[in-house]
Parts: sequence; C-alpha cells; structure tokens
Amino acid sequence: MRKLGYIVLIVAGIGLMAGPVAIMAQQTAPETVILKGAPMGGVRFDHAAHQEKAGQKCETCHHPSKPERALTSEQQRCQDCHTTKAEAPMTTKAQAAFHDPMFKKGTCPDCHITEAAAGKLAPLKCNECHKKENV
Ligand code: HEC
Ligand code: HEC
Ligand code: HEC
Ligand code: HEC
Repeated sequence: MRKLGYIVLIVAGIGLMAGPVAIMAQQTAPETVILKGAPMGGVRFDHAAHQEKAGQKCETCHHPSKPERALTSEQQRCQDCHTTKAEAPMTTKAQAAFHDPMFKKGTCPDCHITEAAAGKLAPLKCNECHKKENV
C-alpha cells in the first residue's frame, strides 16, 4: 500500500513538471502580426507564410533563451525585450533585433537579400515594409 502511495506521488510529480513544458510547446503561432514602433509605420508580417519560407525552422528568427534576459515562452514577442532604446542588461535595440540601419544585415535582411537576388519579391526598401496604414 505504502509503495503504491510513492508511485502515485512520483507520477503526480512528473505531471507537474511536464505541465508547463507542454504549455510552452503548444503556443500557437499567429497568422499575421503587425509590428509597431517605427516612426515610419508598422510592418505587416505574414507569419504563416514565413514559417514556410524558413522551412519550419523557428530558430531562424526566434533565438534560444540568453542569460542576460531569459525567455518566458519559447517564441516570446521580440519587443518584450528589444525596446526602442536598449535598456541594460540589453544591448540590442528593437531595430537591431530585425535589421541594421541600412537593411544590409540581420534577422530579416539576411534572407531577403539572398531571396531578392534569386528573383523573389522579398522587400529590401524601408517603405516596402514600414507603412503608415499599418497602425
Ligand atoms: C521569419 C521569421 C520567423 C520565423 C521563421 C518564425 N517566427 Fe514566430 N514570430 C516572428 C515574429 C517577427 C513574431 C512577432 C514578434 C513580436 O510581436 O514581437 C513572431 C511571433 C510568434 C509567436 C507569438 C508570440 C506572442 O506571444 O505573441 C509565436 C507563438 C511564434 N512566433 C511561433 C513560431 C513558431 C512555432 C515558429 C516555427 C514553426 C516560428 N514562430 C517561426 C518571426 C518568425
Ligand atoms: C526574453 C527576452 C528576449 C526576447 C523575447 C527576444 N530576445 Fe533577442 N536577445 C535577448 C538577449 C538577452 C540578447 C543578448 C543581449 C543583447 O544583445 O541585448 C538578445 C540578442 C538578440 C540579437 C543580437 C544577436 C545575437 O543573437 O546575440 C538579435 C538579432 C535578436 N536578439 C533578435 C531577436 C528577435 C528577432 C526576437 C523575436 C523573434 C527576439 N530577439 C526575442 C533577449 C530576447
Ligand atoms: C523586411 C521588412 C523591413 C525593411 C525592408 C525595413 N524594416 Fe525597419 N523594421 C522592420 C521590423 C519588423 C521592425 C520591428 C518593428 C518596429 O520596431 O517597428 C523594424 C524596426 C525598425 C526601427 C525601430 C523602431 C523601434 O521600434 O524602435 C527603425 C527605426 C526602422 N526599422 C527603420 C528602418 C529603415 C530606415 C529601413 C530602410 C533602410 C528599414 N527599417 C527597413 C522591418 C523592416
Ligand atoms: C527565410 C527567409 C526569410 C526571412 C528570414 C524573412 N523573410 Fe520576409 N520574405 C521572404 C520571401 C522569400 C519573400 C517574398 C514573398 C514570397 O516569395 O512569398 C518575403 C516577403 C516579405 C514581405 C512582403 C509581403 C509578404 O509577406 O509576402 C514582408 C513584409 C516581409 N517579408 C517581412 C519580413 C520581416 C519583417 C522579416 C524579419 C522578421 C522577414 N520578412 C524575414 C523570406 C524571408
């Protein structure tokens, strides 16, 4: 009887540990997101299409947790941590999380530059992404 009690406790313990992990994995990706903050206007981002373009490799854009500020969910919103001005301990501001000042390097341009060179309609110009109507 006592042995059974222990087993029940152990099983319950595993259940408690697995719970939050399962919730993290089940977070559903949005169809489209409008990313805001730039004075030039918001960016309409087709998440579903981009998942495909990245071959379902989420880590193309969502990096793993880093020691300076740990993730609270596996694909947490970038701007929860990357703000307009980087506040210590953060050094990468919102713009830099997505692209450098000239859109030559970063999360978005690294792929867009290659794809555009291959003839795809991947935007490289500021106003092809940042639009006043995306408020
Ligand atoms: C091409 C880049 C890119 C790829 C690839 C990508 N994501 Fe995202 N994802 C984003 C961006 C950008 C956002 C919006 C972040 C924000 O609002 O700050 C986002 C948001 C999300 C969110 C919503 C977070 C929230 O709390 O609102 C989830 C969930 C998510 N992504 C899951 C995934 C999963 C799962 C995959 C892989 C199958 C994936 N993403 C692949 C760029 C990407
Ligand atoms: C929980 C906080 C958090 C979230 C959410 C987050 N990051 Fe980061 N990110 C960090 C930390 C911490 C660093 C390292 C310190 C720094 O560079 O400021 C970092 C660094 C970076 C860097 C610099 C290069 C590198 O890898 O070190 C880029 C680019 C970046 N993040 C992009 C993104 C993008 C794009 C998203 C959303 C898809 C995102 N981050 C979501 C915390 C976060
Ligand atoms: C492929 C689309 C894309 C292109 C092209 C692009 N951006 Fe961005 N940019 C983004 C996204 C997404 C963000 C994150 C959302 C935000 O911060 O407004 C961002 C962020 C920014 C920010 C930071 C705003 C803040 O929240 O602090 C500035 C400034 C900016 N971009 C300027 C530019 C300029 C200037 C160009 C042209 C040289 C450019 N962008 C080209 C997608 C793009
Ligand atoms: C893995 C490659 C890849 C990455 C990473 C990527 N894109 Fe794209 N994106 C493309 C391609 C390819 C297109 C061209 C449209 C097509 O072929 O469907 C595109 C098109 C777009 C468009 C035009 C409208 C649309 O959705 O078709 C926007 C806006 C855009 N991307 C924003 C972004 C932003 C913002 C980021 C960074 C968070 C980003 N992309 C990262 C591949 C990528």
